Parts: sequence; structure tokens; C-alpha cells
Amino acid sequence: MVSFFLTLSSLFFFLCFFVHGSSAVDTISGDFTLSGDQTIVSSGGTFEMGFFKPGASSNFYIGMWYKQLSQTILWVANRDKPVSDKNTSVLKISDGNLILLDGNNQTPVWSTGLNSSTSSSVSALEAVLRDDGNLVLRSGGNGSSANVLWESFDHPGNTWLPGVKIRLDKRTGKSQRLTSWKSSEDPSPGLFSLELDESTAYKILWNGSNEYWSSGPWNPQTRIFDWVPEMRLNYIYNFSFFSNSTESYFTYSIYNHMNVSRFVMDVSGQIKQFSWLEANKQWNLFWSQPRQQCQVYKYCGSFGICSEKAEPFCRCPQGFSTKSQKDWDLKDYSAGCVRNTELQCSRGDVNQFFPLSNMKLANNSEVLTQTSLSICASTCQRDCSCKAYAHNEGSNQCLIWAKDVLNLEQLEEDNSEGNTLYLRLAPSDIPNGSSGKSNKAMIFGAVIGSLGVIVLVLLVVILILRYRRRKRMRGEKGDGTLAAFSYRELQNATKSFSDKLGGGGFGSVFKGALPDSSDIAVKRLEGISQGEKQFRTEVVTIGTIQHVNLVRLRGFCSEGNKKLLVYDYMPNGSLDSHLFFNQAEEKIVLGWKLRFQIALGTARGLAYLHDECRDCIIHCDIKPENILLDSQFCPKVADFGLAKLVGRDFSRVLTTMRGTRGYLAPEWISGVAITAKADVYSYGMMLFEIVSGRRNTEQSEDEKVRFFPSWAATILTKDGDIRSLLDPRLEGDAVVDIEELTRACRVACWCIQDEESHRPAMSQVVQILEGVLEVNVPPFPRSIQALVDTDEAMVFFTESSSSSSHNSSQKHSHSSSSSKKTTNNNSSA
Ligand SMILES: *[C@@H]1O[C@H](CO)[C@@H](O)[C@H](O)[C@H]1NC(C)=O
Ligand SMILES: *[C@@H]1O[C@H](CO)[C@@H](O)[C@H](O)[C@H]1NC(C)=O
Ligand SMILES: *[C@@H]1O[C@H](CO)[C@@H](O)[C@H](O)[C@H]1NC(C)=O
Ligand SMILES: *[C@@H]1O[C@H](CO)[C@@H](O)[C@H](O)[C@H]1NC(C)=O
Ligand SMILES: *[C@@H]1O[C@H](CO)[C@@H](O)[C@H](O)[C@H]1NC(C)=O
Ligand SMILES: *[C@@H]1O[C@H](CO)[C@@H](O)[C@H](O)[C@H]1NC(C)=O
Ligand SMILES: *[C@@H]1O[C@H](CO)[C@@H](O)[C@H](O)[C@H]1NC(C)=O
Ligand SMILES: *[C@@H]1O[C@H](CO)[C@@H](O)[C@H](O)[C@H]1NC(C)=O
Ligand SMILES: *[C@@H]1O[C@H](CO)[C@@H](O)[C@H](O)[C@H]1NC(C)=O
Repeated sequence: MVSFFLTLSSLFFFLCFFVHGSSAVDTISGDFTLSGDQTIVSSGGTFEMGFFKPGASSNFYIGMWYKQLSQTILWVANRDKPVSDKNTSVLKISDGNLILLDGNNQTPVWSTGLNSSTSSSVSALEAVLRDDGNLVLRSGGNGSSANVLWESFDHPGNTWLPGVKIRLDKRTGKSQRLTSWKSSEDPSPGLFSLELDESTAYKILWNGSNEYWSSGPWNPQTRIFDWVPEMRLNYIYNFSFFSNSTESYFTYSIYNHMNVSRFVMDVSGQIKQFSWLEANKQWNLFWSQPRQQCQVYKYCGSFGICSEKAEPFCRCPQGFSTKSQKDWDLKDYSAGCVRNTELQCSRGDVNQFFPLSNMKLANNSEVLTQTSLSICASTCQRDCSCKAYAHNEGSNQCLIWAKDVLNLEQLEEDNSEGNTLYLRLAPSDIPNGSSGKSNKAMIFGAVIGSLGVIVLVLLVVILILRYRRRKRMRGEKGDGTLAAFSYRELQNATKSFSDKLGGGGFGSVFKGALPDSSDIAVKRLEGISQGEKQFRTEVVTIGTIQHVNLVRLRGFCSEGNKKLLVYDYMPNGSLDSHLFFNQAEEKIVLGWKLRFQIALGTARGLAYLHDECRDCIIHCDIKPENILLDSQFCPKVADFGLAKLVGRDFSRVLTTMRGTRGYLAPEWISGVAITAKADVYSYGMMLFEIVSGRRNTEQSEDEKVRFFPSWAATILTKDGDIRSLLDPRLEGDAVVDIEELTRACRVACWCIQDEESHRPAMSQVVQILEGVLEVNVPPFPRSIQALVDTDEAMVFFTESSSSSSHNSSQKHSHSSSSSKKTTNNNSSA
């Protein structure tokens, strides 16, 4: 019995010791060193430090990560000096420094680099991992006499944690910058860095010299950077800027310590901000700059071609191969492309030129003005050192590259900025049958020769297509499924995409007509990275979502990269064109009854998307441009469900959101998970526009009405004259129902409340508009107050109204995270 008791107590003791031993150590000191799998953990349990191995690399580094997320490396000590064996390598206090000794010969590979003759005299030296992620080398215990000799916050890597200062030392000119990793498996300093400059602006540099993004200067009045207006809608971070004659720095803290966030200078050359979504257990990217991958300087290296369309963003042109395929696989494209066959200049002009069309040209060329294309071509042909040429017809300029071609970008076919670049290649690299300049005649002959054959083949193809189409159209009527169109059919239907109805983040929309003479709208999708099967599954899902207030998807086309969606054509266009027009356009003003019906119909369509589809579909881009009107002016919500096709890429969504900010709920900017309530917010903003007949974001001559929703909220909360909110063009409208107007304005104001939980659900909005539910006087929404407090807020919003008309269609849908009521109704019925 006694022995049993002893065993039990020693076991208990052992457990206590074990638990204590593994959780309490946050300090490396004289007798405690780090090697193998040992780690130290900050006292609050947030950060952990030890050896790690990035990805498939065989190298070990000393790194710091979140205790709960060992994949997220925040800081690396020996960035460019890895060790090969963690068991024999050791991190310890020695000679007045924290040093890392390599296993084999115990040579120091990394050190805190203090002058050992001064620091070794200090007593009780220790390295402590603090709970803010700062590794501190200090002396004298943690009493008041503690003396910090070195801290990792002064040596940031690629990650900017709260409390880290991005600093410029004005006396030495030395800047403390963030530097990207070289690749996803190599933490050594890469080519991209973020630093502060003398003019108080942040800039991102390539190789410490070429700037390709700047935040604009810090504005002490508004406390934002001039070119980052979205900072205004931030409620999470307390940014602060400090400057005196010796130094300036920028740092931030987080108001609520539950919010985990970090900024990273990414291997993509973009500065990215992530926040942790506990509900989804994942990092959520919600801000990055520069917005477009191809804006990153020399991202694809020499001769590499960048394209925003889909990953990988870089490729090599005809006749070139990647210089280092291994690096490309790790997303380090900086080495660029090399020729398959070297140019042979000495043996006369045997090189030929290969055309690359729709290129946005690099700007490192020599420019000859007032030169025709033929002179441009012959100038380049004569001089073998000329690597490439291009001719700009508008300016009649000839561009000649004697050096490597950099920053080439592949543009969409219909982008007017595109130009043809002629690239000099060795003859063996010119593909057989393509139009190299010097074999034009041969090509011509070949074309004539094969014309007969082509005509024959075409005839056969057309006959087959006709047959298949007839068959399909019968099928469509029979079982109501989506029609699968061929690209050629849609090309014919749209007269080669000649009648463009609009464009946007997802792609351009063209008008067309089917052989049965029904009108269609064809959306040519861009940037679809999904596989064939997944694409079809998603499209079929969208096809089953049918409601009288949603635009109907009729069919699709999927041939390789060509992905198109076919919708019913809406003869009355989008709502914005009926609300916002100037007097010169002689349009009929929508009457109040019609406006109210449009508001109600739109609410019904959205309520259906949120509640009644199998998965809750969040539209994410509600604005008048996305509400289409059929011949009876019945409203139909357009462009729902498309975000899933592009994938969950938040930064991509935000890219196009720039033009839509006037309708964005605050949670989009603060980075929390987006729910259906984000649509409710946008709907409220739009409802105010339906009432007032003008953009919320427009400057008004009337000083009081600087930002309409704020003015309306004032009237509503202070019991002012509701009629004054109405579109002045409706003044003579006798049928304006004050009861309806009040309901519409009140519900709009409820929709734009800051707290998601204070906003009604879309189904409640419907009931309120129908008069089934009563609606109380709304409170004043706090964030719109913040938006009108300063003039800068108006600047922020003006941008959206000027660009939103070009930008109609990017949205993002989450289907599962915000599960609403789900029903098993097959909604296609
Ligand atoms: C390091 O030691 C652990 C166990 O202590 C062992 O499993 C591992 O194989 C060792 N690693 C090397 C590289 O020797
Ligand atoms: C280190 O400190 C000693 C004593 O203060 C000084 O003489 C020496 O020059 C310093 N060495 C370096 C490299 O700064
Ligand atoms: C160090 O500080 C912590 C809290 O500040 C305190 O609980 C602890 O006793 C101190 N340790 C020593 C050795 O002074
Ligand atoms: C970066 O700049 C340094 C000189 O500052 C130069 O030696 C190096 O070659 C450059 N790197 C690349 C990839 O061009
Ligand atoms: C924001 O940070 C500054 C500087 O660190 C501090 O003085 C201020 O109190 C902070 N504001 C809030 C609301 O926490
Ligand atoms: C500038 O501020 C730093 C600390 O914030 C201080 O150490 C330094 O003395 C200041 N310089 C001047 C000239 O006031
Ligand atoms: C910040 O913390 C609050 C309170 O815990 C939470 O509601 C919110 O979702 C968090 N935001 C982010 C971006 O994590
Ligand atoms: C080329 O780009 C650099 C930096 O992006 C810019 O400063 C320069 O003006 C550009 N040159 C031309 C000719 O556009
Ligand atoms: C062109 O054809 C020749 C022989 O038919 C072949 O050797 C060569 O590799 C081809 N070139 C390309 C770029 O396909």
C-alpha cells in the first residue's frame, strides 16, 4: 500500500515536473542552451522558438513562430547561414552574445554581434522570448536594473509584428527594413524590401534600388498615408508615426489582443496583411500592395512574361526556357528566362523575329521617335545587338531593346494598351509554320495552298455544329438543364464579341443573339484557375439558382482557357443608368412606385440567395450596376456566385473592390469573416441611392448634404422632414407614398449599422418593405459619421464613384462559413 502510494506520488511529481519543464522556459541563459527539438516558449504561451526546416529544404534555421501555428515563421535568426544538423548545433549564451554554433566543427554561424569586450563583462546575461514576440538579450535579471543589450525587434525579417518599428536613422541614413524571403523554402534575404524614406513615405524596392510602390507621405492630420485611403476604415490597429531630427519610425499596436495579425513582405514582392480567423482556423489575406502581381518590378526576371490571368503568373516566351526551374517551382521567378539557342551574330543575319502580341511593354528600351514600323524593323534587324523591337502606332515611336527585356506583361486581347513585341530568336527556335518576319512569303504560299482544305473542313464543321445545336436546343427545352455552347457558336452569336455591354473584374460582357433569335448576354470570364470538372460543377450549381429577381444563367462554354457564361439579355440595362444621368441625356425619371418595386424585388432576390439556396450565397458586390432591369423593369440581381469560380482569393476581390468602396461594409476592411450581413449593408447604401436618385458619394453644392446617408440618418434620427430626402426630380410626383418612403429610408439606415447584428436579415427587409413588419426609428450609424468628419473622407469616396461605372462585377461568396437556414428544396424547379 505504501509502495503504491509512493509510486503514485512520484508519478505525480514526474508529471508536474514534466509539465512545468516544457511550458515554463522562456529564457536561454548560462546553463540552458537550445538544440535538437528543444524550444523556448514565451511566458504567455504565444510565441515559440527553436530549430525549424522550411518546406522540403534540408537546412535548419533558428526561427520564431506562433506556438499554435508552427507553420507560420515570424522571424529567423540565421537567415542566410543554415545549419545542417539540429541535434549537434546549439544556440547559447557565450562570450557576451547569443550565438549559434554549427554542429560539425562548433563554428559560430550567427551571433547577436555585440562587442564582446563590453558585453561579456555584464553579469547574468540571458536571452528572453517575450510575449510580444521580441527576443531580448539582457543583463541583470528582470528587475529594474535589467539592461537590454539587443532585441530582435531591431532586426526584423520579413514579418512586421505589432510593436516592431520600421525605422530610418537620419544620422546614418541606415534603414531598418522588412526583406522578403528569397523563396518559399529559403529565408535568406530576397530582392524585395519595404522601408521608410526621408519623405515619411513607405516604399517597396527591388534589390534596394528600384521603387515600384509607395504609400505616399504620412498625413499627421488624418493619420493615414495619402495613397492608402483604406486605412481610414481601420478599427483594429493603432498606427503611430514618430519623427524627430535623429530618427523616424512607424509602428502599430492592436486595440484588441484577441486579434492576431501580421504584415509580411512576401516572396511575391507584395506587402501583405493577414489576420487570423479563429472560426475558419486560417489566415485571411485582406490587404496587399501593389494590387496587381505584375506591378512588382522585374517579378518574372529577364525576358519573363507576367500575366494576371492565372497562376503561375510567370512564363517564358517562345524560344526561351526558365533559367532555374527549381527556383520557379518555389515561386522565385527572379532568375527569369534564357534562350534555348544562343544568337549567332558573327555569321551574318540569320536570326529571325517572333511576334508576341498584346504585350504591355517594358520601359527599359531606347526610343526612336517618328519612325515607321518598317524602318523600326529594319533598324533592329541590321544591328545584331538589338534583342527586340516594338512600334507604337499612336505616337509613331520605335522601341529598341539592346539589353534584356524586363517587365513584359501579357494583356487581355481587348486591352488597347497592348502592343506587339518582336523578339529576336535563333532560327531553330522559331516554331515551324509561325510568321517569323523573314519567312512571310513562304507562309503566304502555304496559306493559299491550304485555303481549299480549310474551307472544306469549315463546311463540315459548320454542318456538324448546326446539327448539334439543334439537338441541344431541343434538349434544353425538354429538361431545363444548362446548355453547353461551343466557343464558335458564341463567337457567331456575339458577332465576334463586337457589342460590348460592360466590363469588370470577372470579364467583359457582350450582347448576342441565338439562332432562335432570343437575345443573350455573354460574359467572357477572365482569371479562372479552376479545372474543367470543378468549373462545370460550379456552373451547374449557379444554373440551379433560379428566381424571378435573379438573372437566369442559360448556358456556358468551357474550352480550355475559354470560359464563358450565357445569360438572358436584359433590355433595360442596369439600374445605375436609370438613376444617375445628367439632364443632357433625355431619359425618363423612374417614378416612386417603380423605384419602390425595384427595391423590393432586389431585396427578394437577395433574400433568396441568402436563405433559400442550398448554400447561403453571399453576393459581395451589391450596387446599382449589378441590378439589371428586364423589359417590364422587373429587377434582377446579376453576377451572383461567380467568386467561387475564381477561388477564395481575397486580395483579388479587394482589387476590384476599389471601385466599389461606397458600398463596402466596414467588416470588409477590418478583415473579419464576411457574412450575408455585408450584402445587407451594401443594399442599404444602394437603397439610399434609389431614394435620392444620386450617388451617395457625389459632392453636393448643399453643404449640409455632403454624404447623403449621413444626412438621411440625421433626418431620420432627429425626426426631420422625410420628403426632403426624396429625389428632387420626383417633387411633382403625386403618388409618392410618405409611408413607403419612411419605411424605405428607415430600413436603409438599419442596413448600414456598424454592428452586423444590428442590421436586419434580407428576409426581414422584404417584410418591412411589404409592410408586414413595423420598423422603428434607427440609431445613427457611427462609421458613416467618421466618414464625413473630415474632407479627406470625401476624397476617399469620390474615387469610387468615378471608377465604379467601369467596374461592374467582382464579388466573393462564402458558402459554408456563414451557414444560414438551409433547405433541401431543389431550387431549379
Ligand atoms: C535528432 O535526434 C532525434 C531524436 O533525439 C532523432 O530522431 C533524429 O533522427 C536526429 N536527427 C538527426 C539529423 O540526426
Ligand atoms: C569594443 O569595446 C572596446 C572597449 O570598449 C573597444 O576598445 C573596442 O574598440 C570595441 N571594438 C569594436 C569592434 O567596436
Ligand atoms: C520576473 O518578472 C516577473 C513578472 O514581472 C515576476 O513574476 C518574476 O518573479 C520575476 N523574476 C525574477 C527572477 O525576478
Ligand atoms: C542587386 O544589386 C547589387 C548591387 O547593389 C548587384 O551586385 C546585384 O547583382 C543586384 N542583383 C540583381 C539580381 O540584379
Ligand atoms: C495608440 O498608440 C499611441 C502610441 O503608442 C498611444 O499613445 C495611444 O494611447 C494609443 N491609442 C489607443 C486608443 O490605444
Ligand atoms: C529622438 O527620439 C529618440 C527616442 O525616441 C531619442 O532617443 C532621441 O534623443 C531624440 N532625438 C532628439 C534630437 O531629440
Ligand atoms: C477582433 O476581436 C474581436 C473580439 O474578440 C472579434 O469580434 C473580431 O472578430 C476580431 N477581428 C479580427 C479581424 O480578428
Ligand atoms: C520607367 O519606369 C520608371 C520606374 O518605374 C520611371 O521612373 C520612368 O519614368 C519610366 N520611364 C519611362 C520612359 O516611362
Ligand atoms: C521545325 O521542324 C524541324 C524539322 O522538321 C525540326 O527539326 C525543328 O525542331 C522544328 N522546330 C520547332 C521549333 O519546332
